[in-house]
Amino acid sequence: MIQVKTLKTERLVLKKITKKNLNDYVEWKSNREYHKFLPTDVKTKQEYEISLNSIIKNYDNKDEPNLLWGIFYNNKLIGSVSIEDWNIKHKWCEIGWGLSPKFQNQGFAYEAVKCLINYIFNIVKMNRIKVVIWNKNDASKKLASKLGFVQEGIERKARIKNNKFVDLYCYGLLKEEWNKV
Ligand SMILES: CC(C)(COP(=O)(O)OP(=O)(O)OC[C@H]1O[C@@H](n2cnc3c(N)ncnc32)[C@H](O)[C@@H]1OP(=O)(O)O)[C@@H](O)C(=O)NCCC(=O)NCCS
Repeated sequence: MIQVKTLKTERLVLKKITKKNLNDYVEWKSNREYHKFLPTDVKTKQEYEISLNSIIKNYDNKDEPNLLWGIFYNNKLIGSVSIEDWNIKHKWCEIGWGLSPKFQNQGFAYEAVKCLINYIFNIVKMNRIKVVIWNKNDASKKLASKLGFVQEGIERKARIKNNKFVDLYCYGLLKEEWNKV
C-alpha cells in the first residue's frame, strides 16, 4: 500500500488534509476558473465539507486508489497533488495536480509535483507515471513538459464539458528518464 507520508520541499509541505483546512479548501475550489479543464465545477460550502470529509475518511481505507496530499504554504492549504490510480504489479501510477488560482504562476506546482515524483520513483519504486491533461490546458501541458513528461497519445473526444467533447492528452514519464533530469 502507498502511504500519504508528509513530504517537504524548500517552500512547501505536502501532507494529509484535515477538517481544520475547510476554509482554505473552499476558497481554493470556489474559483470557477480553477475548474475550466477539470470534470468538476464550483460547489456549495456544505458540499465541499462533505467532499473534504470523504477525502479524510479515505486516508484510512487501504483499498482506496486515490491518494491525496494537500500542498501547504506557510500552513495554508493552497492545492493538492495526488496519485489517482496505481498498479504495484506493473509498477505504474497516474497522478494529478491542482493549485488555488491565487497561488498559481509562482513555481509551486513544479516544486510540489517534483517532490511527489521523487517519492513515487525513489521510495514507492514505481517505474512509470502517467498524467492525463485536457486539451487547451496549456499550464498543465507546460508543467508536464518541464518535468520531463513525454506526450504519448491523445484520447479523442474522451470527456464532455459544457456539452462539448474534449480530447485528453496522455503524458508518460519513466524512471530512467527522471534520473537524467
Ligand atoms: C496546472 C497548474 C497546477 C499549474 O500551476 P502553477 O503553480 O501555475 O505552475 P508553475 O508556477 O509551477 O509553472 C509551471 C510552468 O508552467 C507555466 N505556466 C503556468 N501557467 C501557464 C499558462 N496558463 N500557459 C502556459 N504556461 C503556463 C509556467 O510559466 C511554468 O513554466 P516556466 O517555469 O518555464 O515559466 C495550475 O494552472 C492549476 O491548478 N490549474 C487548475 C487545475 C488543473 O487544471 N489541474 C490539472 C489537471 S491535469
